[in-house]
Amino acid sequence: MPRAARKVGNTNMNIFILTGAGISAESGLGTFRDRDGLWARFDPMKLATPEAFQRDPDEVHAFYNFRRRNLIEAVPNAAHLALARLEIRLAEKGGALFLCTQNVDDLHERAGSHRVTHMHGELRKARCTNCAAVAVWDRDMGRSDICPACGASKCLRPHIVWFGEIPLYMEEIDEQLGHADLFVSIGTSGSVYPAAGFVAEARRMRIRTCELNLDPSDNAHLFDETCYGPASKTVPKWTEAILEKL
Ligand code: OAD
Repeated sequence: MPRAARKVGNTNMNIFILTGAGISAESGLGTFRDRDGLWARFDPMKLATPEAFQRDPDEVHAFYNFRRRNLIEAVPNAAHLALARLEIRLAEKGGALFLCTQNVDDLHERAGSHRVTHMHGELRKARCTNCAAVAVWDRDMGRSDICPACGASKCLRPHIVWFGEIPLYMEEIDEQLGHADLFVSIGTSGSVYPAAGFVAEARRMRIRTCELNLDPSDNAHLFDETCYGPASKTVPKWTEAILEKL
């Protein structure tokens, strides 16, 4: 029997949620692969690889500066807020929510989620290629900026996992997936690994799986349950249904 079937209705349910760009779409932040998405307008090979940064740091900084400015103006939507509520209510019942996001925005945190694992990094942070320190960074970033930790110049980069780099926190993510009773994927196309492989891994461990997305993702056939529509509608409805069963 899938594990969630035993846990729903009891306390101490562990839910692993993976979010992608779709959850922030209604907050005005673009997705990547939709028809008008970021990767339809910008070439990721020129903007989101270590080689691109080495070749043309100014162009890469300009792209992330533009996205950082948009992010600072954006506000969380009903989907982010619903997940923050779910985290609190699950904890009250002795359960836990592990929120793993591919998003580099901080809308989950601003909605009130306490524990957010950013596997692709964070746009409002800078990383030093000299001393590896990570610092909060809310203004434009450029080659003339100095690392606040070691004082080195010309060594700050956006704290973003680029194509060809290894996502962050993978050990913790694997461990948390192993403890889950339910795996839920929200607003992701399921086309970027390793995140796209989590659903197959969850199935292998006989964890129940659920997809909430605008349209069926590349992995839609791997989910036990699916629900399609804008995240601001589907996510609050789904979280209410889960809470009623607790
Ligand atoms: P994608 O742009 O690949 O997919 C976004 C998904 O969200 C699609 O399946 C859309 O159907 C869905 N969607 C759009 N609007 C929605 C809405 N209002 N409600 C619910 N779903 C909606 O974005 P990701 O899957 O997040 O990596 O992309 C994964 C990674 O690829 C990103 O983290 C980024 C990118 O390259 C890096 O930059 C390292």
